[in-house]
Amino acid sequence: MDARQHLPRSADLSTLAEAVRTCTACELHENGTRAVFGEGRPDARLVLVGEQPGDVEEREGHPFVGPAGKLLNRAMQDAGLDREHAYVTNAVKHFRFTRGSGPRRIHATPEVRHIEACRPWLNAELALLNPEVVVVLGATAVRALLGNAYRVTRDRGKLLPFEVPTNGEDAAVHTTHALITTHPSAVLRTPPDRKEEAYQALVHDLTVAAKALA
Ligand code: URA
Repeated sequence: MDARQHLPRSADLSTLAEAVRTCTACELHENGTRAVFGEGRPDARLVLVGEQPGDVEEREGHPFVGPAGKLLNRAMQDAGLDREHAYVTNAVKHFRFTRGSGPRRIHATPEVRHIEACRPWLNAELALLNPEVVVVLGATAVRALLGNAYRVTRDRGKLLPFEVPTNGEDAAVHTTHALITTHPSAVLRTPPDRKEEAYQALVHDLTVAAKALA
């Protein structure tokens, strides 16, 4: 089962954001968290897609507002990209986590079935936005948008052809660009002696997106 039956028939981004709150397409809604939808300008030429909301995002109800989001903001700025002009979302809209001994929620990577269940929401966002460049942050977003054929380390930093999903069978297919890069959380997890290098590699990839939009 996927989220198609939860999608309103004709929708704009705010209707979708409202509807996702009652999505039960996979079991992640059972963990008591809220779905976090994408945010940004409806006329954005640039869309960034991450994995899933983290602990802070789920509490605050906005994508990429925690530590990874702060690093992403800085990297975008260093690459000459303005988050205010972009749209930021995730492949999976609920937070998947495990519980440790205390109250802390420990991030758990979503499985393929969560990505598949949630994909109609991401497709609907992209169909409405019709962006010129989609930045694909990390392996989960790669799986959601590009399938099995691509790898972050091998394929990062290149403009790849990407077919924007459409909202109907008659709609013309629009081919644009996807750009794979590392997830900002991976930069945060990099050991201190290699962190700056990992950060600069992220900025470098984002600069490719900035040039494509210039
Ligand atoms: N990581 C993600 O992939 N998305 C967020 O919104 C936050 C952290």
